[in-house]
Amino acid sequence: MPSISWRARTVQASPIRKLKPLADQARRAGKRVYHLNIGQPDIPTPKEYFDGIRQAAQGVLAYSPSQGLDEALDALAEYYRTFGIALSRDEMIVTTGGSEAITFALLAVTDVGDAILVPEPFYTNYNSYAQITGIQIVPIETRAEDGFRLPDKKTIEAKISPKIKAILFCNPGNPTGVVYTKAELAMLAEVAHKHNLYLIADEVYREFTYDGAQAISVLQLPNLEDRAILVDSISKRFSACGARIGVIASKNASVMESALKFAQARLSPPTLEQYGLIHLLRSSQYQNFVREMIAEFARRRDLVYAELQKMPGVICTKPQGAFYVTAKLPVEDAEHFVRWLLTDFSLDNETVMLAPAAEFYATPGKGRDEVRIAYVLNTDALQRAMRVLREGLLAYTNSPVMQV
Ligand SMILES: Cc1ncc(COP(=O)(O)O)c(C=O)c1O
Repeated sequence: MPSISWRARTVQASPIRKLKPLADQARRAGKRVYHLNIGQPDIPTPKEYFDGIRQAAQGVLAYSPSQGLDEALDALAEYYRTFGIALSRDEMIVTTGGSEAITFALLAVTDVGDAILVPEPFYTNYNSYAQITGIQIVPIETRAEDGFRLPDKKTIEAKISPKIKAILFCNPGNPTGVVYTKAELAMLAEVAHKHNLYLIADEVYREFTYDGAQAISVLQLPNLEDRAILVDSISKRFSACGARIGVIASKNASVMESALKFAQARLSPPTLEQYGLIHLLRSSQYQNFVREMIAEFARRRDLVYAELQKMPGVICTKPQGAFYVTAKLPVEDAEHFVRWLLTDFSLDNETVMLAPAAEFYATPGKGRDEVRIAYVLNTDALQRAMRVLREGLLAYTNSPVMQV
């Protein structure tokens, strides 16, 4: 048989999805499973989005321009303007999800064998994008005990080698819930200037901030026009994960010209979904939708954090953004615990699925006792899920044979 590539053999299966067969098995056995393992919000997508698709759904479903429809680029420019970010059409490309935007950014600024710095823990699919593009991730370590804040400039600079071409970071952070301060971003900008690096900011959770925290965009940082690359998505903001619409944006014309060549190779982002977005962004409703959704996520965050605080031995910081909390559990192997919850535990015939955090780290052994919880269910369901987690954790930790 012809062989399978090294790339394919070594790329990771999504750790967020790999335990799904166990959840399916639990469901078949009649258990209700609360899915807190994946960032799929339950909030209905705004009606205006579907109206836009319905209105456009006729005639020939044609390719859109590789860069995206002009109306989509204009509607996006208007959206960014509300954050004080001025972008012209040429400075944006509509992508097939934020995932493609990240891949285009990496393809545009790195070559095979290069490396990028990424604060860890990080969105685990960054590993896959790095593998696909043939680059290495060099982690900048952050810790649950320190609220996942960035280390000082010296510690970051110590990681830099000639192979490093960019710093990729997620703000607000998945899986940490951290929102970087102005000082932290200014420090990253200083490092980028001094060492001639790009700053690639994944801002798909821009609006998901709580307690008055505000996510500052990489495109709002001064004197960074040549280095800043924004990657974005409508998946979370408009609860439209299936739309597969994202954006790459930069003031650096060479970066955008390069990204456009990759965009041309895949021909076009989804056409109808862009019409949905155009209609939504033109309606007066979208800001209300986002405001109400964030208020709901703030309630969910408060509930999950308060419940975690009551669980003996659990360490976590109150997340300021996104919709995740990464918590240290009083177990040795969080993946074993997560599996056990699905296979061996239930409370009133219900159980819960979490994401083991080890694969959000690049450093071997780190995050082994951590899980990521996505608070993407309504507060009643979350309340019950947290009760299952609390009782499950007690049962597991009181039973030494469970510890591997
Ligand atoms: C931090 C982060 N970046 C990018 C993505 C990918 O987003 P999209 O659905 O737009 O591909 C996700 C999805 O969960 C994410 O959490």
